[in-house]
Amino acid sequence: MTEIKGLILSGGSGTRLRPITHTYAKQLVPVANKPVLFYGIEALVQAGVEEIGIIIAPQTGDEVRETVGNGSDFGARITYIEQDRPAGLAHAVLTAEEFLDGSSFVMYLGDNLLRDGVPGLVQRFRDESPDAMILLTQVDDPSAFGVAELDEGRVVRLVEKPENPPSDMALVGVYLFSPAIFEAARQLAPSARGELEITEAIQTLIDDGHDVRSEVVSGWWKDTGQLVDMLEANRLVLDDIGSRLDGTIEDSRVEGRVIVEEGAVLKNSVVRGPAVIGAGAVIESAYIGPYTSIGDGVRVVNSEIEHSILLSGSSVENLGARIEASLLGREVRVTRSDSLPKTMRLLVGDRAEIEIV
Ligand code: DAU
Repeated sequence: MTEIKGLILSGGSGTRLRPITHTYAKQLVPVANKPVLFYGIEALVQAGVEEIGIIIAPQTGDEVRETVGNGSDFGARITYIEQDRPAGLAHAVLTAEEFLDGSSFVMYLGDNLLRDGVPGLVQRFRDESPDAMILLTQVDDPSAFGVAELDEGRVVRLVEKPENPPSDMALVGVYLFSPAIFEAARQLAPSARGELEITEAIQTLIDDGHDVRSEVVSGWWKDTGQLVDMLEANRLVLDDIGSRLDGTIEDSRVEGRVIVEEGAVLKNSVVRGPAVIGAGAVIESAYIGPYTSIGDGVRVVNSEIEHSILLSGSSVENLGARIEASLLGREVRVTRSDSLPKTMRLLVGDRAEIEIV
């Protein structure tokens, strides 16, 4: 069996998830308390792809390295490849040329999540050996993605983020390539957004008469590049979790499917699943509602939270109001005090978003 390598893209600048991504790779933001990137690595390993290169950015690469390690936790061998600037997905492919070393490969965008993984797609690529295979899905807002125009199931044209989309079939962030992609990527000039677009490289393959096949994704798919998508991905993943109560539960009610990790303490609280409560978290006199992921060491006291993600080390205390559809970064503190006059005191980082209702 010819080896198929994996290439996961975990560089880029993550502008749409600021301020979280000022200090943090967007691919490390957790969904159901697991970094998005881990889902991609697991998907490749599950498809039998164990030799994996991860593209990292100079600013956030070290944290990716430290969090993921050498791959042994996943049953993979991981090589880190630094891309000096976020010059596009095709630029990332060219940066990885030495690592890929003439092999065919699966390219997986590190902020993408696919419920059913990629085993079917990888198998079909092995069986049919086309020059490229792309994955498509129907979306409501095609102009936010690469879009495919199909003619009786064959891809005839691909356009990146078109103003007038030729169809509602978006390119999902998983691609399979033979080494023919390098020649195509080398012919590209930067697009209007200044990037070497993989979408245009695949169009070049089509124009040159290469065999480009497509498949429509079966389960759900999410690009977690923006807050609403991140919360939606969290909801979709939590919808599939089971129950496991390893922490301490005192005078509290746990309803539905809930994971309480070891060392977490629930006191005088209600947790309504699906939800996860991370290791060492303290939930006291609080309500945690459906579709909420509480990170390790988080404190929620005298407060209510629903449909939200709280990263590790954060605390929400004495709020007297419910937090909903929110993402709190690491070690964020939200409190209320009873002192007068009734004012707000904020210490908020660059590009934070706060909505008072
Ligand atoms: O999510 C699917 C979409 O992904 C496709 O429909 C589009 O055709 C494709 O161009 C891509 O669009 P995005 O604008 O969402 O790509 P983004 O800039 O978010 O980058 C995707 C991933 O690749 C992300 O994890 C960051 C990483 N990346 C990005 C660039 C530009 C790199 O590692 N290096 C880069 O130079």
